[in-house]
Order: sequence, then structure tokens, then C-alpha cells
Amino acid sequence: MKTVKIGVVGAGGIARNAHLPAYKNVPNAEVVAICDIIEERAINASKDFDIPYTFTDYHEMLKMDELDAIDVCTPNYMHMLPAVDAMHAGKHVLVEKPLSMNAEESQKIVDTARETGKQAMTAFVMRFGADANVLKRYIDAGKLGDIYYARANYLRRRGIPGWGVFGEKDKQGGGAVVDIGVHVLDLTLWLMGLKKPVTVSGISVAKFGNRRDVLGLMGQWNVDTFSVEDFGAGFIRFEDGSVLMLEASFAANIKDEHQNQISLLGDQGGADLYPLSIYREEHGVLVNLEPKHIQPVKGFELEMAAFVNAIANDTPVPITAEDGLRVSKIIDGIYKSAELGREVEIS
Ligand SMILES: NC(=O)c1ccc[n+]([C@@H]2O[C@H](COP(=O)([O-])OP(=O)(O)OC[C@H]3O[C@@H](n4cnc5c(N)ncnc54)[C@H](O)[C@@H]3O)[C@@H](O)[C@H]2O)c1
Repeated sequence: MKTVKIGVVGAGGIARNAHLPAYKNVPNAEVVAICDIIEERAINASKDFDIPYTFTDYHEMLKMDELDAIDVCTPNYMHMLPAVDAMHAGKHVLVEKPLSMNAEESQKIVDTARETGKQAMTAFVMRFGADANVLKRYIDAGKLGDIYYARANYLRRRGIPGWGVFGEKDKQGGGAVVDIGVHVLDLTLWLMGLKKPVTVSGISVAKFGNRRDVLGLMGQWNVDTFSVEDFGAGFIRFEDGSVLMLEASFAANIKDEHQNQISLLGDQGGADLYPLSIYREEHGVLVNLEPKHIQPVKGFELEMAAFVNAIANDTPVPITAEDGLRVSKIIDGIYKSAELGREVEIS
């Protein structure tokens, strides 16, 4: 099987904790170059993960002929440029979520992939979750019927990230919705069958991030530069009349430290995902299904393997740049609607 040679841009949290360890367990993947504007980070990653070449400027890394693909693990404001430049340099790309800061940038990635014929995959790791895939099999078999309403939330009680640039609007594009809402938004869109969103009504507020009297369970963030929402929600209507209600928070006064849930209502069955339960009426009685013995998986390893295998076999990546663009359009809509105070259309 062809070995796919990869260069990683960004040697921060997600690269070190997830992508680089995962590639070690993908037999036909070889990370040969690592780039970070902070040289020490690139050098440390190269030592810790046996990566031969280090760079501080990704443009230099893209000159390496032997590289087949680039994995973009930088903050959101630095997703679009390396992705577009990499495809122009003849490399396929895997881009961490969200695909970019906004729909305009995501569209550029989609267009460049079309122009260059290179593959661009959006790294929505939750699509590889074990329970999610069991639920998807039930949905594909028609067990939920027509899914007409979905709720998706990713709520933290006191989880404003204390590292990186997650509180800075100009570097991230937004806060809780862009950073963690994207995970459950994409996953729910996928479970519902990737329908076309047509309108959205949203709220986006900062109630905690600008205050010094708020606990930081994920470290202390910079209160002075905090310029994103710590809570956002959207009511998203699809072409077929179905609706998805999304909620995301970095901080909120809720019972638990984390509340993650996806709930689906279909005319043949309903489901909650975490943990997975399916609710139906069968043979004149109501039944609750609680699937057992779902084998645990390593999501990042499956994600890296899916990307690498698509490149090696010249088959389509499972999660496309268009999937990332769809999410960017909805999120732009949430922010625009919140600003205008009314429902807006999604193109
Ligand atoms: N899939 C997930 O569950 C998950 C989890 C965390 C983060 N992420 C995503 O990963 C991305 C990075 O997040 P993180 O937590 O690793 O952030 P981080 O701040 O820990 O790391 C980012 C790294 O990129 C480097 N960098 C910045 N500009 C660069 C450039 N031009 N060239 C090379 N390196 C550059 C920084 O120096 C830093 O080391 C974000 O887009 C985030 O949304 C995804």
C-alpha cells in the first residue's frame, strides 16, 4: 500500500495530543515535516514524534516535493491560507475544524480544491464516534423514518479555553459556536442526511468571558482580549421543512460541567446519542432500544486513517470541504441573525 507523506502545520495542542500520536498508528502514514512559527514547538514535536524536517514558515515546507498532503492544525485564522497554498503546491489537505473563520474563506477552500483537483477534508472527528455510527446505521435502515426535528447541544458550565486564541474574534471567527458547536452541528447535519439549510435565527452573547469573577475550569483566559460569544444558539430550517436547534456555550449556569446531547425526532422513531437510546412503537407497544457492546474506537486514528486511505487509493475523502462550508454558512447566519435580531436566509 502506498505510504502517504504528510507535513503538519501547527505544533500546538491538537497536533501534539491527537493528530501526531494518531498518525503513528496509521500504517501507511508517515509525518515527515512539522512547521510552527514558534520554532521550539516544531523542534520539540520533531523530537517527540521522530519527524525528520522542521520549519517555521509553511511556504518553505510546501516546497518539499515528497509531501503528498498537509495537515492544518493552526488557529482558525490560519486555516484557509495554508490549505489554499498547499493545494496550489500540489498537496492534498486535511483541515482541523472549523474549516475556516467564515463562509467566504471556506468557499475559497472549496473552489481551490475544485480548481486544483486536490482533496480537501474537514476534520470533524465526531463523525467517527462509535455510538454515532451505530445510530447512523439505524437511521439509514429507516428506523427513525422522517427526521423532522433535532436538538444538538455542546454546553460547558465553566470551560472558556485558557490557552491559545480561542477568545479572540479576529483569530477564531467566533466563540463557543465556532469552536465547539461545530462538532455537534456537523454531526447532526450528517445524521439528518446533509439537508440544505435555508434560514437561521440565532442568538450570540458574552455573559461570562469579560468578567474577572468567573471560575476557569479550563485555565485562565485573557479577560481583556475576550471578544467572542460564550453562548450561542441557532434555529436552523432546512429545505424540506425540518428544523435543527443548536446550542453551544463555553460558560453557562447549568447543572453539569459538560452537557453534550443530540436528540432526533422522527416519525418512525426518536433517539438520544449520548448515551445512545432509540425510542419506537413496535407491534403495538412502545420500546426503548439501548444498544450494548458497541466497540470503543479511537476517533482521531479513524479520522487520520480515512484521510490517508482516501489519498493512497485515490478515492473521495469521507468529509469534504463542502461539508465544512455548509457549517460555516450556518454559523455566519447565526451571527448575522443575532446582530440583526431576525431570521436570515442561508445561500
Ligand atoms: N478536533 C478537536 O476536537 C479539536 C480540539 C482542539 C482544537 N481543535 C482545532 O485545532 C486548531 C488548533 O487548536 P489548538 O488547540 O491546537 O491551538 P494551539 O494554540 O494549541 O496550537 C496552534 C499552533 O499553531 C501555531 N501557529 C500559528 N500560526 C502559525 C503559522 N502561520 N504557521 C505555523 N504554525 C502556526 C501556533 O504557534 C501554535 O503552536 C483550531 O482550529 C481548533 O479549532 C480541534
